[in-house]
Amino acid sequence: MNARDESGHLLKHASGYHAPVLWNDVIQHLVTDPVGTYVDGTLGGGGHTEALLQALAREGRVIAIDRDDDALAEADHRLAGPIDEGRLTLVKGNFADAPRLLRDMGVESISGMLLDLGVSSHQFDAAARGFSHRFDGPLDMRMDTTQGEDAADLVNRLEVGDLIRVLSRYGEEPKAPRIAHALVKARPISTTRELADAIEAAAFRGQEKKTLARVFQALRIAVNDELEALDRILEAAPGLIGVGGRLAIISYHSLEDRRVKRIMRTGNAQGTVRRDVYGNLLSPWKDVTRKPIVADEEEIEVNPRSRSARLRVAERVDDSNQGASQTI
Ligand SMILES: C[S@@+](CC[C@H](N)C(=O)[O-])C[C@H]1O[C@@H](n2cnc3c(N)ncnc32)[C@H](O)[C@@H]1O
Repeated sequence: MNARDESGHLLKHASGYHAPVLWNDVIQHLVTDPVGTYVDGTLGGGGHTEALLQALAREGRVIAIDRDDDALAEADHRLAGPIDEGRLTLVKGNFADAPRLLRDMGVESISGMLLDLGVSSHQFDAAARGFSHRFDGPLDMRMDTTQGEDAADLVNRLEVGDLIRVLSRYGEEPKAPRIAHALVKARPISTTRELADAIEAAAFRGQEKKTLARVFQALRIAVNDELEALDRILEAAPGLIGVGGRLAIISYHSLEDRRVKRIMRTGNAQGTVRRDVYGNLLSPWKDVTRKPIVADEEEIEVNPRSRSARLRVAERVDDSNQGASQTI
């Protein structure tokens, strides 16, 4: 299914800031209780949040989190109506800290959570944010520009061995040692153009574009601790979502999707299938989607970013009696 609604709006909820991918599939799979409280852990341009608010009854509520001030400012303006009505609360923070953020708000349990991972089109397209090799700008790449080490500091500080590890782990870059040595040689690097030039000079002919994409991705993941944040929320989510509620995650590369798949299929980060003596899976989750939902050609055509999107959904099941019988 594509992201069209009944009246055929493929890009409904899109803004100049970001176009939400697979929004119709997200809503159909995520909303199980129209008067429930939902968390959008990755507010971005607020497209999915807006779609959620429209799908819920008036009593339904959304708490939307982002660590980027631009996203919060955009939603503050775009979604002023639901904020004034008390249906939407914006929170600055890391979704990995959702247990604490929700506790601070007095929220004990939620009906569902959405994570649309990675960066928004706005972050990519704003040269000053330093996420893209297509524009020249300061090599920043922080989602939260108020704290932490930026990409320039990281690339100038790391020992070559650590740089190799970052490029191969987070970018799955096959020529990580060659590229890392080239970056060390090109130091100090302070702009996206300088970084791109150093990568292009070291990449094999014909491989420049792919190498650029992999290295920029690797540094962005490292700067923002993206996989650590994902691992933390995957572990915490069963304690937040009530039985019958759902977790929907859109990932954009295999490092994310692998983690999400393991947890949703087996209930643990190792991906180990554990069953009780009756053969029942020991897990807080029931895998709803089995295979990831992907964008169709029509959506990809109007929103090329949706090409790599993989949506997976799991439902929280009652696991209070699990483990009472012996594990086999
Ligand atoms: C792909 S965009 C989300 C787009 C959004 N679904 C929409 O409809 O516009 C990802 C957003 O999540 C934010 N983000 C990524 N990781 C985060 C984290 N660990 N905690 C909070 N926000 C995060 C980014 O700053 C970015 O604004």
